[in-house]
Amino acid sequence: MKDLAGKHIVLGLTGGIACYKSAELCRLMIKAGATVQVVMTAAAEHFMTAVSMQALSQRPVALSQWDAREANNMAHINLSRAADACLIAPCSADFIAKLAQGQSDDLLSLMCLARPVDQVPLLLAPAMNREMWAHPATQRNLAQVAADGAVVLGVGVGEQACGETGDGRMLEPHELLDDLIAFFQPKVLAGQRVLITAGPTYEAIDPVRGITNLSSGKMGFAIARAAREAGADVTLVAGPVSLPTPRGVQRIDVRSASNMLSAVTLHAPEARVFIATAAVADWRPDVASEQKIKKDGSGQTPALRFVENPDILATLAQSARARSGDLYCVGFAAESHDLLANAQAKRLRKGVPLLVGNIGPATFGQDDNALLLVEEQGTEEFARDSKLALARRLIASIADRIRD
Ligand code: CTP
Repeated sequence: MKDLAGKHIVLGLTGGIACYKSAELCRLMIKAGATVQVVMTAAAEHFMTAVSMQALSQRPVALSQWDAREANNMAHINLSRAADACLIAPCSADFIAKLAQGQSDDLLSLMCLARPVDQVPLLLAPAMNREMWAHPATQRNLAQVAADGAVVLGVGVGEQACGETGDGRMLEPHELLDDLIAFFQPKVLAGQRVLITAGPTYEAIDPVRGITNLSSGKMGFAIARAAREAGADVTLVAGPVSLPTPRGVQRIDVRSASNMLSAVTLHAPEARVFIATAAVADWRPDVASEQKIKKDGSGQTPALRFVENPDILATLAQSARARSGDLYCVGFAAESHDLLANAQAKRLRKGVPLLVGNIGPATFGQDDNALLLVEEQGTEEFARDSKLALARRLIASIADRIRD
């Protein structure tokens, strides 16, 4: 199922160089399953042609409130009534000022004013020069439009078309897409703090070698994204992986199991939920050589000795119990066989209410997975699906359990 399937989005373009990014945004929304109706202001037409946007959206672009081809001649009413959301990207400083004042002298501002506020959300992706963004008038107007119910998606930081550097760039198309998808997800974890571990750990043997495993981190990153989409404050403690950080998630990169335990211990006291998806190395070399271990030509192999790593999940679950805290701990089990029996035993051994089993070799590095939820009351199977779809289901299940 595509993330925006069944959604009809009005994409409004106002005057700004970031209009070029809206062409890509339109494409991405359609690829995600949405239907997109583009509305452009006269200023936007200086930066992007309606022809391009029509080709990408596969619909004529709405440009004027005086377009007599609308049967009732009320494009501003018809457009917003059909929409699941209106996204203005780019949203210029001038357009924000118009919204703040309720001005309505062009089709797009007229449509925003005429939309049923409770039914058709208005999302804004501001785009402007850093001085314009920082100006008190803009900030005042933004506060006003937010108070009037608009969702302000924020801005990017970096080089601007004018040659200056700072806040005010429009977010990238893929970021806006993720924000729009997140907007439609139910906010079942609003106000909750969720702590997640993900990826492998790396245990150094010497400065250039170490032991690690094949965990890609994808499941943990998908869960972090799903928790954030559900409205949680998410801290993601990640072993060495090269995945992009999900939008709005606080990421802490670590290397070894000991580093991971320190990071998790620091953040656990504020968390309501802890989800351990990391494939933590069970052992580490008892000492990591400070210098690269060299062959000496004798054919002798180095004598490596290992010590057991701390069990992060069991440690947290135990200290939460000791404090009679309300940290809800969820473990993962990557097994190669006897999933149910191993997962049940592991749940008890780790002392957690919920353990999620999966078949390790079938999921490491893949984009899909199948899960088996094991708890005291019984089990539940999530059939094979994308990791993100499974993550959303898991987050919904966890939200149910912490509500009870
Ligand atoms: N885990 C952890 N710290 C460890 C080992 C595991 O926090 N040192 C967590 C994992 O993140 C996962 C769960 O414990 O949530 C199960 O991990 P797994 O490696 O499958 O279990 P082990 O206890 O190592 O058992 P075994 O190797 O016997 O399968």
